Amino acid sequence: MGGNYPNIWHTGGSLVDTETIGREDWEELQRNLEATIPVYDKVNRVATFGQVSKWRRMVRERLPKQGRLLEIGCGPGSFAEDVLGYDLVCLDPIPEMLRVAEERVNIARTTRGDEPATFVHGKAEELPFQDSSFDAVCTLFSFRDWYDKRAGISESLRVLKPGGTFIIVDPAKINRFHGFLGWLWMRTYVSLYARMLYKSESHPWKWLTKTYVSFGTTKDYVKMIREQGFNEVEAKVVFPGMATIWQGKKPN
Ligand SMILES: C[S@@+](CC[C@H](N)C(=O)[O-])C[C@H]1O[C@@H](n2cnc3c(N)ncnc32)[C@H](O)[C@@H]1O
Repeated sequence: MGGNYPNIWHTGGSLVDTETIGREDWEELQRNLEATIPVYDKVNRVATFGQVSKWRRMVRERLPKQGRLLEIGCGPGSFAEDVLGYDLVCLDPIPEMLRVAEERVNIARTTRGDEPATFVHGKAEELPFQDSSFDAVCTLFSFRDWYDKRAGISESLRVLKPGGTFIIVDPAKINRFHGFLGWLWMRTYVSLYARMLYKSESHPWKWLTKTYVSFGTTKDYVKMIREQGFNEVEAKVVFPGMATIWQGKKPN
């Protein structure tokens, strides 16, 4: 058993279900995510008809007004860049994502007069932070990539202060048929655009379709967030198949 991946050995290296990703697939996924860096924001905007900025704003509106905020899976800093104020901590397992995000986010923060954010290498499943050390934890378009979603939710609960807010955004499906339509969407429109940008058949979005297909429904994760110990759990389907926002509170 490899020390870094304690929860996923039963999966035999394959993507299996709505809860876990096998080790080999997670590593392959990380390589593909890293390859998206140069065009990440462009493809996201086109794939969501420009709606992604609105969804990011909806998350900001749901956060407490101040305090210590953790973004898990910050990627190249697309959300963190526009977070005003807070004592902001951004975490990601890909060093190159952190490098790009740090430059981008801290230039924006310094220009606005905000304190620089802190960038930490790590994974949702083993957060390198003390218990009860954040007022809010959020994760946008990253939860679907976590190799053990229950462990990541549980870790988020641990690092939140009592009464702290937890927010997830990701594209959940309504049911299997809707999942099939989402798959078609990724394999046609999004794939075509990514192929044009990369000028190659083997672009990373082709691979990312796998996590999209394996991801569960809005209800699956409402249940999971409750089962991991959060209170006041609710979900809003903002755009079916593209964005659901889940939120919960750590019990006092
Ligand atoms: C698609 S990007 C999301 C970027 C950004 N949050 C946004 O709003 O666009 C997903 C990020 O999640 C990270 N990620 C994947 N698995 C993770 C895990 N187990 N724990 C934390 N982050 C993870 C990836 O490295 C990647 O940078």
